[in-house]
Amino acid sequence: MKKLRVGVIGAGKIAERLHLPGYKDTPAAEVVAICDVIKSKADALAKQFNIPAVYTDYKKMIKEAGIDAVSVCLPNYLHAPVTIFAAQNKKHILVEKPMGLSVKEMKLMIKTAKANKVMLMVEQTHRFDPAHEVLKDVVDSGIIGKIVSIRGKLGHSGPEYWSDNSPWYFEEKKSGGGCTTDVGIHILDVIRFITGKEIESVTGFMANLVKKKFILEDNVEAALKFTDGSIGVYEASWTNSPYEVVVQLYGTKGKAIVNQSNYDPQRVRVWTIDPKNPYGSIKEVKYTVPEKSRLGGPVQHFVDCVLNKKKCIIDGTEGMKSAAVIIATRQSAKTGKPVKLTV
Ligand SMILES: NC(=O)c1ccc[n+]([C@@H]2O[C@H](COP(=O)([O-])OP(=O)(O)OC[C@H]3O[C@@H](n4cnc5c(N)ncnc54)[C@H](O)[C@@H]3O)[C@@H](O)[C@H]2O)c1
Repeated sequence: MKKLRVGVIGAGKIAERLHLPGYKDTPAAEVVAICDVIKSKADALAKQFNIPAVYTDYKKMIKEAGIDAVSVCLPNYLHAPVTIFAAQNKKHILVEKPMGLSVKEMKLMIKTAKANKVMLMVEQTHRFDPAHEVLKDVVDSGIIGKIVSIRGKLGHSGPEYWSDNSPWYFEEKKSGGGCTTDVGIHILDVIRFITGKEIESVTGFMANLVKKKFILEDNVEAALKFTDGSIGVYEASWTNSPYEVVVQLYGTKGKAIVNQSNYDPQRVRVWTIDPKNPYGSIKEVKYTVPEKSRLGGPVQHFVDCVLNKKKCIIDGTEGMKSAAVIIATRQSAKTGKPVKLTV
């Protein structure tokens, strides 16, 4: 079978840590070009991953490198224009989270991909976390009943410890926001993915508590009202060290928890109860979490879906729905009022 020829746009941290290793691990694809406005960064990754062509202009790369697909690994404000240009030039697109900075631009990304018959997938890494895949199985099996309330938290110590010299993370026009946009999107998307619930409205609270020089929020709390009447909260932080990802689901017949952090390895814990005798019937049900995602990972899934014409688990519409909640959370926190979702 013909290999998928890929160009990676943006030779920063996520390209180095996730996209390029992902393609290296996918025999059905090959990265044939890489682009960065800082040539030395593109050169360094080209050398490390054996990529034959280096560009500093993504438009030139898309037009000239003979590629079928792109990975968009750029600062958030460039996701929409670069995705749209790639789609207009008939390239399949794997774009990093958050998909875009406004609903208007995300709708245009979806429309352009559809009009040009290319795949648009949003790279929401945590959907490929094996613990989250197992937690979704738990919910889908009905073992903990109907999910009534939800808590999700994702926090780390901030982007300055992840990607050195990337000031765009702290400029609202380029990033779209602070920890809400950067990591809130992960946990909110995981909640939507695992429960299948849609959000009706959100009330957000943001604060800059520690990173005063960066101005943007370093902590966020948000209350969610789902369209089925259930409720929940999501929290995100740039001051949360050690790193932590927690999802807690409370159902009519039990509860399920994923708690992952540097100090406590990945695990899923599930307890069931008999609703008629809640105190006397608590049972722990054991689940094994595999090492790897059953889909291989986001890059592997993208390549598989493009080559085999499959529907991906996080297309443009899915990516937009999660990003819209993040935008609404920040709007609510700024105005002090709940915001209703429109997509
Ligand atoms: N999925 C995840 O878990 C995860 C983790 C971290 C970052 N991300 C996302 O990945 C994206 C990139 O983040 P990062 O940490 O790699 O940032 P980074 O700053 O390390 O890398 C971005 C790169 O883009 C380059 N660039 C900027 N403008 C360009 C242009 N016009 N053309 C070509 N190159 C250009 C920069 O020079 C830089 O090398 C962001 O959207 C971020 O939200 C996702």
